[in-house]
Amino acid sequence: MSRIKFIAGNWKENLTLAEAKALIADLSPLVAGISNVEIAVCPTFLALTTVGGKVAGTNIQLGAQNAHAVEVDGKLVQSGAYTGEVSPAMVKDAGAQWVILGHSERRQYFGETDESVNVKIRACYEVALKPIVCVGETLEERESGTTAKVIEKQVRTCFKGLPADKVAESVVAYEPVWAIGTGKTATPEMAQEVHGLIRALLAEMFGPETANAVRIQYGGSMKPGNAKELLAQPDIDGGLIGGAALKAADFSEIIKAAV
Ligand code: PGA
Repeated sequence: MSRIKFIAGNWKENLTLAEAKALIADLSPLVAGISNVEIAVCPTFLALTTVGGKVAGTNIQLGAQNAHAVEVDGKLVQSGAYTGEVSPAMVKDAGAQWVILGHSERRQYFGETDESVNVKIRACYEVALKPIVCVGETLEERESGTTAKVIEKQVRTCFKGLPADKVAESVVAYEPVWAIGTGKTATPEMAQEVHGLIRALLAEMFGPETANAVRIQYGGSMKPGNAKELLAQPDIDGGLIGGAALKAADFSEIIKAAV
């Protein structure tokens, strides 16, 4: 089964509106005409509609970096007294097709858990917003030999009880925490080992057909120089790109490595 590669840029807390518009103006001609790779950029909430306007009619899709939802008395809540938060319904309304959930920075600095990510994924499914669900081990976990255990817990809990047809359209991003923004990249073999494990877990939970449909991105210091060999691995279906997504030349090179 062939999966269309998917390269998404995670802009994090970067770029003013003017800078965001300039980046899209630089990027869109560099990737115009590429039809066999899906491309997305994920700006801050504040830049979603502006960037959405700039990418309209191009082959660049729009994503957010987070969304908020809670379950109250067994019901998903997508609005109300949650100061400072933005729901999947609002992200969708702003024109996004994608949302990054459970990024390690959100887990580390903002108390996000596998359980809260599971609720958020369900809220996304409710409004047909597709999640990019991040998992990954810390350096300490890798060095103590618990990577497989950590990833298994994350995948099983984040995807617990979800419908297989929606899971099939979702994306998982494997982002070893020690590789994010550090310049250290997992070797293609190291990454493939975990990607294979994630797909095997999804197969066990949802059946092989669903598992084969899910795109699994690699994230963590992916750049033009290492993208090709990572993307050549059988279970690496794209990339979630941080630093290198802020430069049109670098991001477009990574996209071209996926063609
Ligand atoms: P990086 O970030 O490419 O800067 O390592 C990736 C990510 O955090 O999504």
